[in-house]
Amino acid sequence: MVTLAPWRWLGDWGQRSWQRVERRLSDPQLYPFLRSNPLTRWVTRRRTARLYDLMSGFANTQVLVACVRLKVFERLAHDALSAKALAQQVQVPESRLVPLLGAAQSLGLIQRRRDGAYELAALALPLLSHPGLQAMVEHNQLLYQDLAEPEVFLRQRGGHMHEFWPYVEGMSERAAPSSQQSQRYSELMDLSQVFVVEEVLAGHRFGQHQCVMDVGCGMGRLMTRVGQQYPQLRLQLFDLPPVVALASERLQQAGLGGRFECHAGSFKTDPLPRGADLITLVRIGHDHSDEVVADLLRKAWEALPVGGQLLLAEPMAIAELDQANASAYFHFYLMAMGDGRLRSPLDYERLLKQAGFDRVKHVRTGMSIHAHVILSTKLGFTPVFNSTSKVRLTHINVR
Ligand SMILES: C[S@@+](CC[C@H](N)C(=O)[O-])C[C@H]1O[C@@H](n2cnc3c(N)ncnc32)[C@H](O)[C@@H]1O
Repeated sequence: MVTLAPWRWLGDWGQRSWQRVERRLSDPQLYPFLRSNPLTRWVTRRRTARLYDLMSGFANTQVLVACVRLKVFERLAHDALSAKALAQQVQVPESRLVPLLGAAQSLGLIQRRRDGAYELAALALPLLSHPGLQAMVEHNQLLYQDLAEPEVFLRQRGGHMHEFWPYVEGMSERAAPSSQQSQRYSELMDLSQVFVVEEVLAGHRFGQHQCVMDVGCGMGRLMTRVGQQYPQLRLQLFDLPPVVALASERLQQAGLGGRFECHAGSFKTDPLPRGADLITLVRIGHDHSDEVVADLLRKAWEALPVGGQLLLAEPMAIAELDQANASAYFHFYLMAMGDGRLRSPLDYERLLKQAGFDRVKHVRTGMSIHAHVILSTKLGFTPVFNSTSKVRLTHINVR
């Protein structure tokens, strides 16, 4: 949560003073005064509203899930409906549907007309037009189940989310994902990648490259868009065997045959193919431990020519007001998956520099809630790794 702390600019003394004030503002004995005094009641109101949000957020989510599962938005897409008509369609007693509709109305998902019929409100429209959003609402139910007993969740690994992501290391080594498992997670990622792809395309001029390789390409949505937008570019795709097969099919169907190469492998055990002067890693790092990411970045560095670039894009821990909830969500989501973690742009900057990359640039994209983009370049230096710890010891200029 982003707290209002205007005195933090005054350093330690300012912060300590502000904390003392905040404590006084929480004193139960002062509450009657604080809630009515014109100088303090806005703080009390703001905090109360914020705490309400925290305590009741799960109910809001379940209102959304109920609307999605009952297809309330689709049913209201063309015509406004009365509660009675809707109750018949969704087969829920009207007396129980009305509170759901009231809740959805207060959350800005639907609205009530003067004649009492319900119609869509602003927030439901993107949910209808982007299938990935509803798919994520449903998928999040796995996390919701895992979090039912949060203290148990924190003490032990495993659970529904961990099962859903078979490529993340388990307590014991896991088998490679089956085609069925990989198709399930790849379809979900593909739907939700729509927004991320926009950030990536807006954040970099792909036209300056000859060949781009998307590592962890999923079903190839990014490479399809890049290939269609930049006809001179050659494309390479790298992912686990069952996933790269899905990507290959997509690119063929998009008419990009002859311009792309698919590489099936694991970046944990295989080197990355050479030939690309831009490597993209989109929503890959956050799934894995620091050790795996450090190793992957080093492999990317080795695969690139001097002057080649690495573009990394994924949601990151960023202290922006509108991203507080997203960060809290990703911290838990990634922990539930297994080994990965939400990193800050600075965490990545450190890992990139350790792998040998220079000129690390944070690209300002319009919607960092979907992905923060970092672009780094391989200059003419070879990082030397200690063979056991893989920590870079020094730079040697090879030019
Ligand atoms: C979270 S998905 C992201 C997919 C895509 N880049 C996107 O943004 O939608 C992670 C991808 O990394 C791939 N992956 C996971 N472990 C891998 C490994 N060891 N080697 C190659 N690909 C791997 C998965 O199969 C999956 O396609």
